[in-house]
Amino acid sequence: AGVGLAGLGLSSVTGSAAAVEPREADQWTRAEAANIELTDDTTAPVIEENSESISDDYWIWDTWPLRTRDGSIVKINGWQIVFSLTAPDDLVPGARHNEATIRYFYSRNGHDWQEGGKAFDAPLGHHQWAGSAMYDQDEEQIYHFYTAVSSYPEFRQKPALGKGASIETGPKGVELVGEQEHVIMGTPDGEMYQTYEQSIEQGIVYAFRDPWYFTHPETGEDLVVFEANTPTGSRDPTNPESFNGNIGVMRATNDELTEWELLPPVLEAIGTNQQLERPHYVFKDGKWYLFTISHQFTFAPGLSGPDALYGFVADSMYGDYEPLNEGGLVISNPDEAPFQAYSWLAMPHGDGIVAESFENFRGLDDTSRGAISLDEVGYLPPEEQKELFGGSLAPSLKLELDGAETRIVTELQDGHFLPSIKSSRSPNRSR
Ligand code: FRU
Repeated sequence: AGVGLAGLGLSSVTGSAAAVEPREADQWTRAEAANIELTDDTTAPVIEENSESISDDYWIWDTWPLRTRDGSIVKINGWQIVFSLTAPDDLVPGARHNEATIRYFYSRNGHDWQEGGKAFDAPLGHHQWAGSAMYDQDEEQIYHFYTAVSSYPEFRQKPALGKGASIETGPKGVELVGEQEHVIMGTPDGEMYQTYEQSIEQGIVYAFRDPWYFTHPETGEDLVVFEANTPTGSRDPTNPESFNGNIGVMRATNDELTEWELLPPVLEAIGTNQQLERPHYVFKDGKWYLFTISHQFTFAPGLSGPDALYGFVADSMYGDYEPLNEGGLVISNPDEAPFQAYSWLAMPHGDGIVAESFENFRGLDDTSRGAISLDEVGYLPPEEQKELFGGSLAPSLKLELDGAETRIVTELQDGHFLPSIKSSRSPNRSR
């Protein structure tokens, strides 16, 4: 990753000549998405059934590491910290979204995670969804970006920032301490970003969530990408135009990062896909690698793609974005287990990337093979639903990144966020 001005201690340069010039979003087109293809390089190995959870009491799903302003993963006095969406594991998996609480876990070796506690005392929202966490090493405080969500069934979403927590470490563990201040970062404007009301008229799922912080590698501006939708005026869920996912971006207008302005999205998938979830960047060789996760069920009519990590590469923030591996597919679940994992997060590692994810409905098979479908899970007795759900860290995958091509090269042991690479999956787990 480039260090840029942030490395010199300068953060927000909004308004200066060096600032990003907003441009019209590039598109992930239907023609590009028609090139999505599962190959050996883009298909994850089938996950074994015997993984263990990093938590004894909670389902865990979307997970993100504490990073510095320049994007490196933080180690404080030898401790690495990750944050996860969690919910009590006596809930059926589908009920967890309405109860999501962000908790932290810490480790000395990138696996062997120990449970900390809640990330926040009094966050905004009925519950909290995904985000990202930045540690300012000079201020010694965490800037924690998350999604404040209203209760089921509306799930209205507002990107939020909780700041003020600091970190205490000891020989046995880590504690987050200090009072936090919480602010809402923005709401959809109805033109670049679809509002909740516009989505209801349109009749498919709504999103304004998953803020992911980064420092612009050249200008040093403080920016956040997030998942949203572009209003297209289409009210017909059978019309591809109704599938209007975008990757939005906002820019801080003060050094405290408490005030933000919406910029036009960096990428849109109008006519292609409804949800570009948990967007995030990896910077490598002066290139902007933009990653996002998406579902089989959110592709527009006439297109198909798996539950997967998708990615694009560009020379600058406003593109043009070239889909990786032609169609955009980077890590697909295998055909034999199409919902085994989800919510991949790509992180720079050596010359390539490591992608972390969680175990989703591991046991579910492809319906074309006569097995139960994802939609049917919710009708099973609670114990059977829980049996099918992983709710823990999946094995991370290491990938090579070469221009616009990627290749899955190694599978790590489950719960291993970053290598320690292990070349084979032995039954002698270190936990
Ligand atoms: C991805 C996701 C995120 C959201 C969270 C809700 O797995 O849908 O977009 O923040 O899960 O549980």
